[in-house]
Order: sequence, then C-alpha cells, then structure tokens
Amino acid sequence: MAYKFSFHLPNSVRMGLLIAALIGLFIGALAWFQIERERRNDLEEMDRRAYVIAHQMAYPAQVALQLPDSEAVTAFGSMLEGYRRLIGLAVYRTDGRLVAAGKGVADFADVLQQAVGKTQAERKDTVEIRRTADAHIHLLVSVIRAPDGQPQGALAVLHDLVGLDERATHRQALFGFWIGFIVLSLLILTVAGAWVLYDRPLNRLAEWMRRLRTDDEVGAPPIELPVARLASESDRLAALFRTARTAHQAQARAVVRADNIWTRDRLRAHVVDCLRGGQLLVVSNREPYMHELRDGKPRLIMPAGGLVTALDPVLQACGGAWVAHGSGEADRQMADAQGRLAVPPDDPTYTLRRVWLSREEEQGYYYGFANEGLWPLCHLAHERPIFRASDWEHYVRANRRFADATLEEAGSGPAVVLVQDYQMALAPRFLKESRPDLAVGIFWHIPWPNPEAFRICPWAPDLLRGLLGADLIGFHLQQHCNNFLDTVDRMIEARLDWDHFAVELQGHTSRVRPFPISVESWAERHVLTGADLERQISDLRQRYELGDLRLAVGVDRIDYTKGLTERFRAVARFFERCPNYRGQFTFVQLGAPSRTHIPRYRNYISELEALADDINWRFQTESWKPIRFLVGHHDGVTVHAFLHMAEIGIVSSLHDGMNLVAKEFVAAKPDLDGVLILSEFAGAARELSDALIINPYDTEQFAEAIRRALEMSPAERQERMARMRRQVEEHNIYRWAANFLTDLTAVPISNPQTQEIA
Ligand code: G6P
Repeated sequence: MAYKFSFHLPNSVRMGLLIAALIGLFIGALAWFQIERERRNDLEEMDRRAYVIAHQMAYPAQVALQLPDSEAVTAFGSMLEGYRRLIGLAVYRTDGRLVAAGKGVADFADVLQQAVGKTQAERKDTVEIRRTADAHIHLLVSVIRAPDGQPQGALAVLHDLVGLDERATHRQALFGFWIGFIVLSLLILTVAGAWVLYDRPLNRLAEWMRRLRTDDEVGAPPIELPVARLASESDRLAALFRTARTAHQAQARAVVRADNIWTRDRLRAHVVDCLRGGQLLVVSNREPYMHELRDGKPRLIMPAGGLVTALDPVLQACGGAWVAHGSGEADRQMADAQGRLAVPPDDPTYTLRRVWLSREEEQGYYYGFANEGLWPLCHLAHERPIFRASDWEHYVRANRRFADATLEEAGSGPAVVLVQDYQMALAPRFLKESRPDLAVGIFWHIPWPNPEAFRICPWAPDLLRGLLGADLIGFHLQQHCNNFLDTVDRMIEARLDWDHFAVELQGHTSRVRPFPISVESWAERHVLTGADLERQISDLRQRYELGDLRLAVGVDRIDYTKGLTERFRAVARFFERCPNYRGQFTFVQLGAPSRTHIPRYRNYISELEALADDINWRFQTESWKPIRFLVGHHDGVTVHAFLHMAEIGIVSSLHDGMNLVAKEFVAAKPDLDGVLILSEFAGAARELSDALIINPYDTEQFAEAIRRALEMSPAERQERMARMRRQVEEHNIYRWAANFLTDLTAVPISNPQTQEIA
C-alpha cells in the first residue's frame, strides 16, 4: 500500500511566510532600484570627470599637435600619465596615428584604436564602457580642434571602472544582508504573533469543544480568544449544549418513569419536605378569587388568565397565603380588616391577603406601567409600549406595598415566596432587602424579548436589578432564559455564569431556569361529567343556535397578542376556499373582556365585533353564522363544555409565553377526538408538536389548517391527541410547581448587599 505523504504547515507559519515573502519582494524591488540608481550616478560622475580632463587637456594638446611627433612627446611630458582611477590619456593625429600616451594606456591599444577610428569618422566625441577579459573601463575620445574648428587630432581619456564595480557589489551585499534580516525578523514575529493570538487559542477552543461533546463536566471556554464575541458565543453554545443534554437526559428519564404522574397529594407531600416547616407564599397582581357586585350583591368570580389557572391548584394542595391586589368591587366587603379571607370560599385551604390600591395607583402601576409598558414590550405583537415617569413611580410604590404585605404574612418565620409575573418585577429585591433569609423565586409568565427590544424601557436596569433580588428566576422557555441573560449582560454590571445559568449581583446569586407551566386535569375541577356534561352541551348548542354543527373553539382574554383578528380572517378565508362547509361548521370564540380601561383593549373588542359582523354578513344564511363571538366572562364549567364539544381548538397568539388554553383543550379531550391548531409563536408549540402548527400571520396556511383539521382521519386525530395528552398529563401543573420549588429550595440562600431601586 502506498502512503501519500502530506505535509501540513500550520496556519501561523503560512501566514508568516506569506507576509515575509510579500514584504521581502517589496523591499527587494526597492533595493534593486536604489542600487541601479547609484550605479547610474557613478557612471555619470565618471563621464563628468572624463570631460573635465578632456577639457583641461584640449589646449595643451592642440598646441603640441602642431609640433612634430618627437617634440610633441616631449611637450606632453608626464601630462598623459594616470592617477588612481584614471588609467591614462592618449593623443592621436587625424589619421589615427598615436602621438603620445600614458604608460597604463598601452594595455588597451586595440580598444582605443577602434574608438579613435569611430570618433574620427563621425567627427564627434564618443563615450564607451568596455569590458575586456581582465578589465572594465570607461573611455572618452574627444576631438581636438584647431582654432578654425577643423579636427586636428583626438584625445582619449581612459578610466578604470573596477572601483565602481566593487562599490556596487558592496552595496548589494549590504542591502542583501538587511533585507534578509528584515524578512527573517518579520517571519519570526508574524509566526509567533499568529501562533500566540490565533493558533494557540483556537486550538484550545477546538479542544474545549471536543471535550464539550464527549465529557460530562467541562469548565469555561478558554479565555483570550482572538475575537471577544467568540468567547461569549462559545459560552452560550456551551450553555445550550448543556441544556439540550440535560433535556435529553430528562426526556430519557421521563420515558423510564412514564407512569410517574405528579398529583395534588404528591405535590403537597413534596412541598412539606421542601418548606421544612416554613410557609408558602404566592404574590401576584391578580387575585385567584374576586368579588364583584351583581344586582347589589357580592358575586364570586375566578378571573380569566393563565396565572390563576396554574397557581390556585398549587396553593390548594399546599396551603399558605396568596397576596394579591383586591381589585373586585365587593372585595373589601368580603375580607377582614387586614384584607384577609379564606379561600376557596366553599372549601377553604389557604389565605387570600388582599392589597388595596387607590384608583390612581392602580391606573399608574397596573394599567399604565405593567400593561401599556411592559406587556407590549415583552410581546412582540407590533404594539408600541408607552412609558410614563408617573406610571413608573406608581409601579415602584405598588411593588413595595405588595412586598410589605408579603412580609407581614411571612411573620418572622421561614418562608418560601413565589412572586408572579411582570407586574412584580421589583418585589423580589424589596423582599430580600428586609428578609435576606427568605427563599424568593419569581416566575415570569410572559415572554422575555431579546436585549434590543427590552432596552428601550427607560427603567430596564432597575427592573433587572429588582428581578435579580430573587434566588431563582423562572421562564417558560430556554429561549426566554437566554434572552434574559443576554439582557443582563448588555445592561448592567453583573457577573454572568453561562455555565450554570446564573447571575451574581452585589454578592447575591440568582439562578435562571426554564419551567414550562401547565394545567391540572379537568377531572380535578368542579366541572360536569357524563350525562350532566352532555346535557350542558346540548343546552349550550341550543342557546347559541349551534344545532349539530361541527365546531371549532377559541377561548381567550380579548388581548391583541392573542391573534384574534388573524383568527377571524382565517375563518373567513376558509369559507371562501371551502364553500361546501357553509352551514356545516361554525367557529365559536369565547372572549373575556380584559384591561378595558386601556383604550387599545377597548377598541380591540369593537374592532373584533365589527370584523365578526362583517364576516357573518358575507357568509351567513338564514339559519347559520360562520362566527359566534361570545364576549363575556365565562365560568370554568362553560369553558370546559365548549372545549369538550369542539372538534377543533384554535390558539393563534402572535406571541405568548406558554398559552394554557392549548393545554386545557388537550386536557378536555379524553375521547381523543379533537385537533389543536396552534400558533408557532406560543410557548406551548414547543411541547405540543402534534398540533397543526401555524403562523397566524399566514392566512392561507391558517385557513388550510382548518380544512385539514376538519378532514383529518379519526385515526390520525387520535394518535396526535393521545401523544399530546400524555405530554400534558405527565407535565402537569403539579410537576411544574414541584420542579420550581425543588429548584428554589435546593440551594442555600446567598445574602445580597442591597441597593435602593429607583
Ligand atoms: C396573563 C399574565 C398574568 C395575568 C393574566 C390576566 O396570563 O401573564 O399575569 O394575570 O394574563 O391578565 P390580567 O391583567 O387580567 O391580570
């Protein structure tokens, strides 16, 4: 077998050779020009000297040539002898006969004779450079003229050029030496520089990447990389790699523990372990139970929204207290002097502590900063955030109030505090300022955008410092964690540890982790089942004139991030493309009015009503409407019945942290007969990949998904739904809470050095 030898020069050497060769060539060319120029100067100098001599000798020669040869020789005497570089002179008559010559000239008699012949023939001076076997000479033959201008003879001036040659050779050697020296130095410097700056760090990076791939524990990437971004990107890459590996391992473990379902009882036992005698406190803006006035009497409602859906079951399982804004009209009436009441009212398991805010405070903190500022800031739905200094001041004050109420509930004992969402960004720091020993976690239920988007908030650094008071900061998705760390990295002076997804600020460490939130099963809630459920469904069909139509359902707060306009348009497009479904299929949208003091929200309801009217007007028949837009606060029993009866669930958020309605729909389908259409921009799309994933902005694709859902074979529907149900059952709200609490209480609390906000 023949071996092919291949010799691979390191890049630093190649680069050095290239640079040295280029610079060497350049300097070489310059040197060559210089040597040539000096040589030409020397020859010109020689010409000048020869002419000066010829000029000085012209008159004596002219006088001597008028004499006979023997007297002429005597007249010349020693005038024709050479000195140093001058070999000598010779005088000739016009017929070319030599009259007299210096001694040194005799050796060049032939050469001279030729040159004199040429000069006589042409009747003008000639200059020649001649190289003979053993000499190199400069020769000037000048015509000697009588006073009347007639040629009278010729004078030859002969110089030796060996001295000039030696000087040229010496110059070449000197230039050669310096060029060699410079090229070699350059070569050494470039190779060493390239090796130190590029080869060595990149080789180390490659080795680190190899270990990242193969070893379990790999330290930080090498420092001093040639490009600063390479270092931070490697950090991130490593973090993602690690997360992916952990997720993979977790997935593998999940397969092994397929029947390892978290239940309310299991969570309760687990939380008792985690709390070690401490109490569990939840802090959020929205309260889980609200009292409104209906016909002058207090009426209990559970506000719509993912947060309450997720956390009420946790507190019901674990006990403790929930601190929230008492925003209901009849809230004060139903609470004690401290704003406390036991909930759920019909089977109390925990304390609700209501915090009172004046109308002005609520306007500034909740409607203003939280919902006109932070909400559009974090949801990329093309809605411009509004930031007012007065809103920010209310936001700071309200957060302080919530923190104070929480500290009162905590008393002096140990407690674990779960702070919720974007309305409470400053609470973690306020809590820690008073009680550094509390375990404080905050869960951010909405997306965290990239740093470019977030930094437009004038108080972004304060928000970050507020959040970094927490020991654990949770997001739904890894991507949101990455964005958050990126934002911290760009906006405040804190130490980032991408290896462990942690941030150290003033001696306190906050860990940042993804915890995809979920739901509890419908069976655990007070919803109808069996014949009761069937009866309720037929009532609803009758009330909303749905007959036995095939149904798609959407359930949302009326919010511009939910993509309701896009949804309605897709339904209209569907009926345009598939007119055969007119009279067969209807889309029902349950829409809960939300944040209606904000003009954008108020207007959005009217826009949607107008759009639904318009679409209905275009397609409806006497007995059928394409869209039923049911605006109002629908209780859990009604929502469940609609989700259960619909063949298709539609979630088309333009941007959403998770979106629990998607999971609620899956959870409401024990018969597996349903198709979920889900926006790729909702966090839930990462877990529910068996949904028909759509881009809500792409109306054609969205309309086609509706057709596909209606025409999907029962077998495919069931397979997809079964996989999604397994996901939702295994990764339920109890598992979410258990994971968050385990992570929060697993690490000893680090003590921050506090600093004032705002
Ligand atoms: C989202 C937010 C929650 C909020 C809910 C309802 O799910 O993440 O923090 O409570 O919407 O909004 P509202 O403004 O009515 O509380």
